[in-house]
Formats: sequence, C-alpha cells, structure tokens
Amino acid sequence: MKRRNFLKAGSLLALSPLLSHAKTEERFGSFTQVLPIPKLAAHHMQNGIKTFELHTREGETEFFKGVMTDTYGVNTSFLGETIRVSQGDKVQINVKNALDETTTLHWHGLEAPGVSDGGPHSTIPAGTTWSAKMEIVQDAATIWYHPHTHRQTGRQVFMGMAGLFIIDDKHADALALPKEYGVDDIPLVIQDRRFYADGQLMYKQGMHDTMMGLTGNIRLVNGVIDPVVEVEPKAIRFRILNGSNARIYNLMFDGGYAFHQIAGDSSFLPTPVKLQHMVLATGERAEIMMDFSAYAGKTLYFGDGMDGRRLLKIVVKNSKPVPAILPETLIEITKYQHAKAANKRAFRLNMSMGFLGINEKQMDMNRIDEVVKKDTFEIWEIWNPSPRPHPFHVHGTGFKILSRDGKPPLINETGLKDTVLVYPREKVQIMVVFRHLAPKERPYMYHCHILEHEDAGMMGQFTVV
Ligand code: C2O
Ligand code: CU
Ligand code: CU
Repeated sequence: MKRRNFLKAGSLLALSPLLSHAKTEERFGSFTQVLPIPKLAAHHMQNGIKTFELHTREGETEFFKGVMTDTYGVNTSFLGETIRVSQGDKVQINVKNALDETTTLHWHGLEAPGVSDGGPHSTIPAGTTWSAKMEIVQDAATIWYHPHTHRQTGRQVFMGMAGLFIIDDKHADALALPKEYGVDDIPLVIQDRRFYADGQLMYKQGMHDTMMGLTGNIRLVNGVIDPVVEVEPKAIRFRILNGSNARIYNLMFDGGYAFHQIAGDSSFLPTPVKLQHMVLATGERAEIMMDFSAYAGKTLYFGDGMDGRRLLKIVVKNSKPVPAILPETLIEITKYQHAKAANKRAFRLNMSMGFLGINEKQMDMNRIDEVVKKDTFEIWEIWNPSPRPHPFHVHGTGFKILSRDGKPPLINETGLKDTVLVYPREKVQIMVVFRHLAPKERPYMYHCHILEHEDAGMMGQFTVV
C-alpha cells in the first residue's frame, strides 16, 4: 500500500479506501474488543475548589491476548482518566507521582498560569506530589494532559501517560449537540505504537527515530487495538485527540462518507464544517459529528486515509433512526475580533541532520528565549523551511491562525487553536494573547509537538510579564 503524502495545507489527497490490517486481525480477531471509554476522574469539593487526585503510575496492559506489556498511566494502567470541569470552576489537581522516575503533568490547551502549567520546570520527583491550581477562564473545549519532562516527554507519553481534559461552559450546554459521555459523545484517543516481539513497548532506537519522530506499526484507539463501538442511528459526536508521538493522520470514514467538524483544539468552530477527511497532527484535537441515521443496521469503519488503515469499527444499531439536526452556528469567537498586534515575532523551525531547533537554538532550561507582555496581542510567524511538516504548539493560549503563506487559514481551523501543523516550506502567521503570567522559574513553552523533535531541542521558553 503506497503511503500518501501531503505537502501543502488543504491540498486534495487521493484517498485510498481503508484496508484492514491483516496482521492485527490474525493476532487479535478483527475488531472484536469493545472500545473502552476512559473513566471520568472523581473530584471532591474542598473550600469551593474542585479537587482531583491523579496518580502517575506503572501498570500492565494486555494489548495482545495473553501478553502483559509494562505501561504507564494516570489513575489506570494505560492512558488516563478524563478530567472534566466547567468554565468558572476553581480547580486543584494533586498529582502524586507513583512512578520510579521524575515526571511532570502538563495541561495542553489550558489557559493556566505558568506556575500551574506543568511544563518541564514543574518536576514531580518519584514519590512526591505536585498541586496545580487554576481557575477555568476559557470557553468549552476538549484539551488534554501529558508529561512534559525535560528530554523524556516522548518516552513517558509513549509508555502511556496521556488523558483528556474536557471543559464545559453554559453556551456549549445550551447547544443542541450530543452530550452523553461515552454514549453519543465519544472520546477517541488515537495513537500508534511499536512493540518488541515479547510484547514490550519499543521506544526510540536511534537517530532515525529522532529525526522522523517515533511511529509504530500498531494503531490504538483508547488504548486498544482494533476496537469496535456500537452506536444508535442518530447524531454521534466524537472528541478526537491525536495522542501519537509523531504520526499525522488523515481521518475519514471508509467510503468517504461526509461528517461535520464542530470543534478544533481550543474552541468550537464558528459553524459546522462538512468534510470527507480531516488531517490531525500530533497534539491536535477535533470534535466531529456523524449522522448515522442513514446507516441503521450497517457497519462502518473510521480510519486513516494516509495509509488506508482502519482504526475503529462502528456498528450502527438497527433501531429507529433519528436524523441529526446540526446547529447552524456554534460560537462567535470574539477574542481576537478587534485585536491590533503590538508586536511581531518570528520562529524559524530548524531541521538538519543532527540539529533540531528553533531560531538556530536548541532548548535550554536555563535560557528564556522570549519575553511577552500579558494581555497584549502579538503576531507570531512560524516558518518551516524543512522538508517535513511540524506541528507548532504554544502553551498558555488559544490562538487564531491568520494566514498560511499569505492565504486565509483552512475552513476547519477558524476556531481557537493551540497547535498548528506547519507544512514544508510554509509560513504560518498566528495571533496570540496571554492572560496569565508565566515567571522565569515557570515559563511557558513553544515547540514542535512531534515529541522526539521536542525532546531533541525543537522547543523554546518564554515568560509572560
Ligand atoms: Cu502538548 Cu508543550 O505540550
Ligand atoms: Cu501544551
Ligand atoms: Cu518537528
């Protein structure tokens, strides 16, 4: 099967029909395991503060029948429980590190002050607890969390540490969208993994994995190979996270059936956008709605048009169909409406043999690369002169994509973003603003979200003053 490539944002891809993967079928039976839904993390109220207890821990996970694989997880053996909060909540998350090594936990997409952001400076040595405090100021979004340990992020995520973090707000509650978690509002964490013959996870082996980013031959959805989910013949919402270390997907239904994207990384889209396939880079999220009312009694596959691999089998119940009614508009994004940029910064992504950096520098924990003023709009221009696409991520903000090579952003990236895929030889302009402080002891990061690139130095730090 020929690997389909993409060189330009929005370029039309000749998509191949999805093929099932013969090998995993042999080993596992074809799409027989029920899609697990990550549990919602419990919380208790403490002086009006929604308090969560997370444990980063080791575990064993049965990816292959009868074979136990050593993994990491958060409150579970692989992946993590889903944190769910509402706009306006005061939140405290206590992270107890029960691993044998130092870690951190970063809330990717959250507008939290630098001290609570969980970046590489907020280390949690083995056996200790770190508490992040924050007030949820931003709008409804599906964000996520993962370790951000200096030079160890890729490995710790690969071992399994990652979870969803859902933010609700009154506006989203009032929208006529499916909302029953795990039933018609289904989270999908998509990842790939590579294993040794004995079933243990095989992380980075050398320079090639660093330069290309670590990809694996096995696909997981919510931590399971080839899962199946049963749905009613009605509108189903999927909250999708690309939690892979490096792989970029072009998600689609087998047969090219149309669906609607309703949200991107950090907000709803202004209106639902009809798509037949959707590129999702590592770190990015998308919420989509699929109207299954025409498919009662049928079986569909959701998969990756990039290489034709099926990821999820969807069995539509043979019950009475309820056609979906999509809201015409979803949100008005006002954050950047009358914004005037007070400053401009340029970020050049460097990738050459043996050197991954930004602005000719490699990540240095002791160097602050940029100093940004709080509540001040800025234009950041990210230039990727390299032949590989890099997803550029910024901590502490939801940003707006202004342009790609001078042209307007793609129609499904008009909401707030925190990660943008910068295609080879492309220049992307974004507008950012930060409403929290990040001191030099706990700065924010900007980096490539291919985790092996990040770990190898394609990252910088900035304070917000
Ligand atoms: Cu998802 Cu700095 O990370
Ligand atoms: Cu982040
Ligand atoms: Cu990169």
